Amino acid sequence: MTKRLDGKVAWVTGAGSGIGEAAAVALAAAGATVVLTGRTAAKLEAVAAQIGTAAHVEAADMADAAAVARVAEAIQARFGRCDILVNNAGLNIVERAWTKLSPEGVRELVEGNLMSAFHAAIAVLPMMRAQGDGVMIHTASMAGRNVSPMSGPGYTAAKHAVVAMSHSINVEECANGIRSTAMCPGEVRTPILDKRPNKLSEQELGEMVQPQDCGELVLFLATRPAHVCINEVWITPTRNRGYLAQVARKL
Ligand SMILES: NC(=O)c1ccc[n+]([C@@H]2O[C@H](COP(=O)([O-])OP(=O)(O)OC[C@H]3O[C@@H](n4cnc5c(N)ncnc54)[C@H](OP(=O)(O)O)[C@@H]3O)[C@@H](O)[C@H]2O)c1
Repeated sequence: MTKRLDGKVAWVTGAGSGIGEAAAVALAAAGATVVLTGRTAAKLEAVAAQIGTAAHVEAADMADAAAVARVAEAIQARFGRCDILVNNAGLNIVERAWTKLSPEGVRELVEGNLMSAFHAAIAVLPMMRAQGDGVMIHTASMAGRNVSPMSGPGYTAAKHAVVAMSHSINVEECANGIRSTAMCPGEVRTPILDKRPNKLSEQELGEMVQPQDCGELVLFLATRPAHVCINEVWITPTRNRGYLAQVARKL
């Protein structure tokens, strides 16, 4: 049976858990070959085992430009193409208030969320330009559009920049058939929440967007026809704790 993404190659970063894992599983189920990148090879191997022969592990630290370029070269050498980039690797830190911020913490956030996203986009663009086609989906955040204390200043600033980066790709690369989406999730139940300064209850976690919801959204974005660009999309819990808190304060 023919599948929608047969013959397509997708590179998923941050693929060892959470949103990236769900995206890789969804894209592979639709027929794509998926290249899984993250820093921890064991996590990637576990996801690859779940997917089967369509998955290929290429461990790398996305903050290391040379390592990211090497993964892109490996994709070019092995498959000769890259149709979909899920530019998803990212992190947050526990120290989120200005009273606790250090230059080292901010550097980790900027390198881990912004530089890493630029590295992948820069590395994959030559292949997509040569194809005259390609879809990039960058996992930004609601913190890339809103400013609130929950995500912290460094993460918020880096994710705002990821949104701007994605739109700038459409400005320059639409002429080459390349489409870029800034995907802005609200709270998603993934391991990144372990870094929240305050513990979340099981009820709060259950009401959040689940990783599979994001996987389905990534698949939707990756399967639009070539003449359609989805520039930005928000995916948030219906019971949005940020909104509920504002209403409770009657701001
Ligand atoms: N969960 C949410 O509420 C939420 C909301 C909005 C946006 N996001 C964004 O969604 C993306 C995915 O996060 P998630 O929620 O799915 O959390 P997650 O499960 O922690 O996934 C993040 C993945 O990125 C990898 N990673 C982190 N830094 C990396 C680096 N320098 N190089 C390569 N891989 C790296 C991690 O694996 P290794 O540590 O093994 O490298 C991890 O598997 C992130 O960009 C995050 O900021 C999450």
